[in-house]
Amino acid sequence: MTSALVAVPVVPAPADALGRGLRDLRISVTDRCNFRCPYCMPRSHFGPGYRFVPTPAALTAEEIVRVASIFTSLGVTKVRVTGGEPLLRRELDEIIRGLAGIGVADLALTTNGALLQRRAAALKAAGLQRVTVSLDSLHPEVFAAMSDVNVPVSQVLDGIHAARDAGLSPIKVNCVVRRGVNEDGIIELVDFARREDLVLRFIEYMDVGSSNGWRMDDVVSGAEILGRIGSVHALEELPADPGAVARRYRFVDGGEVGVITSVSRPFCGDCTRARLGVDGRLFTCLFASEGLDLRAPLREGASDHELRTIVARHWHQRDDRYSELRASGSRPLQHVEMSYIGG
Ligand code: GTP
Ligand code: 5AD
Ligand code: SF4
Ligand code: SF4
Repeated sequence: MTSALVAVPVVPAPADALGRGLRDLRISVTDRCNFRCPYCMPRSHFGPGYRFVPTPAALTAEEIVRVASIFTSLGVTKVRVTGGEPLLRRELDEIIRGLAGIGVADLALTTNGALLQRRAAALKAAGLQRVTVSLDSLHPEVFAAMSDVNVPVSQVLDGIHAARDAGLSPIKVNCVVRRGVNEDGIIELVDFARREDLVLRFIEYMDVGSSNGWRMDDVVSGAEILGRIGSVHALEELPADPGAVARRYRFVDGGEVGVITSVSRPFCGDCTRARLGVDGRLFTCLFASEGLDLRAPLREGASDHELRTIVARHWHQRDDRYSELRASGSRPLQHVEMSYIGG
């Protein structure tokens, strides 16, 4: 990891076409997952014949860290490792160690938690700072319907506890809410998160990918979710954190909860996120249909300066604001799948 070890001066990328800086990088380290959440990887589409990215096409651990170092030299301070399920990636500890080694200020991981119990301590030792665990319900049958897999919800809870014991902090919990499936478990999750001191965020079900058969009728809005919580626990809105996706609320007797309202109240205006797909394509929006190939120049021997120029130029041209345009119906024909692009 030659370039990763050399301290490179930070020269921020120029703002994009809508004046937004480049601050965050989300890296998908695998497009595989041990869950089949119907809103993300429905079995009808991600069955035995599905063609995942073959190993030689995926960026290696070393390539991932090199690309990340290009981004940090362009002003990125926050890196999130995602998937698919990142704990399925064999070299995950090495990737985390490399990312910590280039001095990423905020280094986080999003996981479904099923394999976290036995991995949390090693990830912390490798330099991971915090984790976000997806948990859509505490109710065994509803959890099974939301994940479509034979993993008991208790295994995810054990993962959360192991993350806490390992010193990963804060621990966030993501819950995607689907109308008629898990909305009745909202308060139970809120009370669980309050007891366990977890930062819970409810996510509006989004039309990501091209396989989940998304319908607006399945979305429970952030306003409705807050209404349900507010009828049980008094809430106060916290000041917005620029560039963050969650709108945060404080319980008047301590703790907080968030809502991520990509559908009802989009936040494209201050979106500073770039995404790196498993095979090294750079996407400037979660809903993009095409990405810029960084793997080819990387494998053809491009210098750090050349890679920086490629990324900075691409960012400068960016004008994505899909969630804001969704309402107008101008949807690209094909979105890349969330499990590939990393959520
Ligand atoms: P924090 O740094 O802890 O705030 O993480 P995060 O909320 O940015 O990341 P996380 O992986 O927990 O994502 C939470 C939800 O927000 C997921 O459903 C993501 O798909 C969604 N999300 C994250 N970034 C974007 C974005 O740029 N656009 C849209 N539409 N959704 C996003
Ligand atoms: N809508 C909203 N959130 C989703 N996630 C996956 N698919 C969707 C979707 N269609 C969430 C996961 C995870 C996060 C990275 O994205 O549950 O918590
Ligand atoms: Fe896997 Fe997460 Fe997608 Fe569920 S939402 S299938 S856990 S990547
Ligand atoms: Fe950013 Fe695209 Fe999400 Fe808008 S829809 S917030 S531009 S990733």
